[in-house]
Amino acid sequence: MGGGHEDIRQTIDQLRREIEQHNYRYYVLDAPTITDAQYDRLMAGLQQLESEYPFLLTPDSPSQRVGGKPREGFATVQHTVPMLSIANAFGDADLKEFDRRVRGGLGNEPYNYVVELKIDGLAVSLTYQDGILVRGATRGSGATGEDITANLRTIRSIPLRLHKPVDLLEVRGEVYMPKESFVELNRRREERGELLFANPRNAAAGSLRQLDPAVTAGRNLSIFVYGIGTAELDGERLPNSHSASLKWLESLGLRINTYHQLCRDIGEVISYCRIWQDKKAALPYQIDGIVVKVNLLAQQSTLGATMKSPRWAIAFKFPPEQAQTTVRDIMVSVGRTGAITPTALLDPVTVAGSTVSRATLHNLDIIRDKDIRIGDRVIIHKAGDVIPEVVEVLMEHRTGAEKIFSMPAECPACGAEVVRPSGESAHRCTGAACPAQLLEGLIHFASRGAMDIDGLGPAVVTQLVEAGLVKDVSDLYNLTLEQLLKLERFADKSAENLVRAIADSKENPLHRLIFALGIRHVGERAARLLADHFGDLRRLMDARFEELTSVSEIGPKIAESVVNFMREPQNRSLIERLIAQGVNVVVEAAFTAGYGGPLAGKTLVLTGTLATLKREAAKELIEKAGGKVASSVSKKTDYVVVGEDPGSKYEKAVKLGVAVIGEDDLWDLVRSHD
Ligand code: IVH
Repeated sequence: MGGGHEDIRQTIDQLRREIEQHNYRYYVLDAPTITDAQYDRLMAGLQQLESEYPFLLTPDSPSQRVGGKPREGFATVQHTVPMLSIANAFGDADLKEFDRRVRGGLGNEPYNYVVELKIDGLAVSLTYQDGILVRGATRGSGATGEDITANLRTIRSIPLRLHKPVDLLEVRGEVYMPKESFVELNRRREERGELLFANPRNAAAGSLRQLDPAVTAGRNLSIFVYGIGTAELDGERLPNSHSASLKWLESLGLRINTYHQLCRDIGEVISYCRIWQDKKAALPYQIDGIVVKVNLLAQQSTLGATMKSPRWAIAFKFPPEQAQTTVRDIMVSVGRTGAITPTALLDPVTVAGSTVSRATLHNLDIIRDKDIRIGDRVIIHKAGDVIPEVVEVLMEHRTGAEKIFSMPAECPACGAEVVRPSGESAHRCTGAACPAQLLEGLIHFASRGAMDIDGLGPAVVTQLVEAGLVKDVSDLYNLTLEQLLKLERFADKSAENLVRAIADSKENPLHRLIFALGIRHVGERAARLLADHFGDLRRLMDARFEELTSVSEIGPKIAESVVNFMREPQNRSLIERLIAQGVNVVVEAAFTAGYGGPLAGKTLVLTGTLATLKREAAKELIEKAGGKVASSVSKKTDYVVVGEDPGSKYEKAVKLGVAVIGEDDLWDLVRSHD
C-alpha cells in the first residue's frame, strides 16, 4: 500500500459509500435526498478518480454496475440449497386443506403464518461473501441455474455491498419489471416493429438472460428479497423465524416487500388473500398470488419438503381476470415513428377493476394469428394488469357475418403510402411530414423526460398544429403571446406561462434535447451517454459511426440510427434552427444554467502539483461542477487551488486577498449540495 495513495484510497472509499447510500435511499427506500444532477456529479467524481488510479478499482464500486462485456453464454451454477417451487392453492378449500396438513405435521404445537405478495417475476439467488456480492444466479432447474452475476449487478436495488459484512449469505428473491416500465418497453418495441413481451414476467426474464449486461441495465428491473438460502455468521445469532429473517435482511440493506403480515390462523390468511385480490391492480408491479409461510424456522424444518416444494408454504393463486365482449370495429393510429397500430373497439366491459372499451391489437401478424375479425365475440385480459388485450376469439360464436380486417394502404392521417419494412412486424407511414407523426413528435419533445415543457400536453399541441402555428419543434420557440391568446382556452395567465415554459426549456441540459429529438433507438440513457461523450450537439451532428460505437453502451443500432438521422438535411436544418433560437446544445450549460452546480459562476485557478488529481482531471472536475478554470489570478478569481511547489500565482492570490484552498477543500466544494 503506497503511503501516498492512502488519502486517495480514503477519498474513493468515502465517495463510494456516499454513492451507495444514495442508491440505497433511491432504489430501496424510495426516498432520495439529493437530485439526479447531484448524484451524477458524485458518480463523475468517482469515475474520474478511478480512471486515474485504476489499481484502486474494486468490483463492489458503484461505478462498476455496468462494467461487463457481452459474453458467449452463461456458466452453470450448482445451488447449495435447492431452490424449490411452491404448491398452489386455488381457493379457500385448498388453503384449509394445507392448514390441516400443517397442523398434523406439527402435532399440537401452536404456529403462525406469514403472508406475503407473490411477485410475478423471476426467482434469483444472490451470494454475498464477507458482505460483497460475488454471485447471482437464476433458479433454473432448482438444482442448477445460470450465472447471471454481471446482469444482476446492473440492478440498482441489489446492493453490491451489504450494510454488515456477514461471512456468507445466500438470499433468494424475485427480480421483476414494474408495470409502467413493461408498458413503456413494449410501446418502444412496438414502434420499432419488434416482438412484444406478453407480460412483465417475460420481460424481466428476457432482460435478465441477455448476454450483454448493458441491455439489462437499460431495462429498469428491480428486486424483492424474500428468503435466506444459506447464512453463516460468527458469534451472532441468526433469525429464528421468517418474519425476523425479513427484518434482518432489510437491516443488511436488501430490498424487502413491506406488504407482509403475521396471521394467527388460516381464517386470517384467507381474508388477507381476499383483500389483495381487489387491491392488486393498484400496485406498481404485478403479483400473481399470495405466498403463505409457516413463520418459525424450526417448524419449517419439522415439516420438511417433498422433492418439489416445501410442506410449510403454499401459494394462493389469483384467478386470471378475463372478460367476454364483442369487437365492434378495428381502427388504426399513427405513432411518432410512423408505426401504424390497430386497436379493437369493444363493447365496454369491466376487467381487473376498470372499464375497458378498446384493446391494442399490436400489429397485423397478431390479428392474423388469433384470427380476430370485426364482430367477433372475444375474451380479453390485461397484460401486466394494465394493457387490455384480446386473448382469444370464441369461435363457437362466429356467425359468418364477421369482417376480416385489412391494413389501410394509405396513412389515415396524411394519405402517404403505408409499407411494411422487411423484417418488421409493424406497418409504417412513409410521409416525412405526416401530421400524426408531427403531433406525436411534438408531444414527445415537450414530455417529461425530454424538454419537460409545462402546459404543453397533447391537447395544446394538437391545437397549435391545427391552427398552423407549429410545423416542427423549432416553431415552438417562435410562438408569441398574441398568437396564443387568439386560441381557444388560452387566457393571459396560461399564455404567459406557456411562453415562459418554452423559453425556459432553452436552458435544459443537452441530454434532454438529444432525447427530445426523437431519434429512433435513442432513449433517455443513450441520450445521456451521447451528451456526456460529445459535450456539444454540433459534434454529435458530425459524429461518425465508429466514434459512436466507441462510446460505452452505444451499440451499432443506436449508432446507425444517429448517423441516419443526422444525415437527413431536414433534421440538420431543424437543429440549426434550434441553435439559432438559442436552445442550449452544450453540456456545461447543464451545470451553470440549468442545474446550478456547486461551483456555478465561480472562477478557479490551479497552481502546483495536487496530491491526487492531475491538472486535466481537476479542470474537468471543476467544469463538471459548473466552475471555470482560468490561467491567471485576478481580483475576479474566486479560489486558487494550491498544490505542492506552487508558482507565483500563489503569491499573487495572497496579495490580492483571493481565497487559497487545497485539494481537499476543492473536493468539499464540489460535493457540497445545493
Ligand atoms: S418463497 C421454498 N416468496 O414463486 C419457497 N416465492 O412457485 C421458495 N415467488 O420460485 C419461494 N414471490 O419465484 C417465495 N414472496 C415470495 C415469492 C415467491 C414470488 C416466486 C418464486 C418461486 C415461485 C414459487
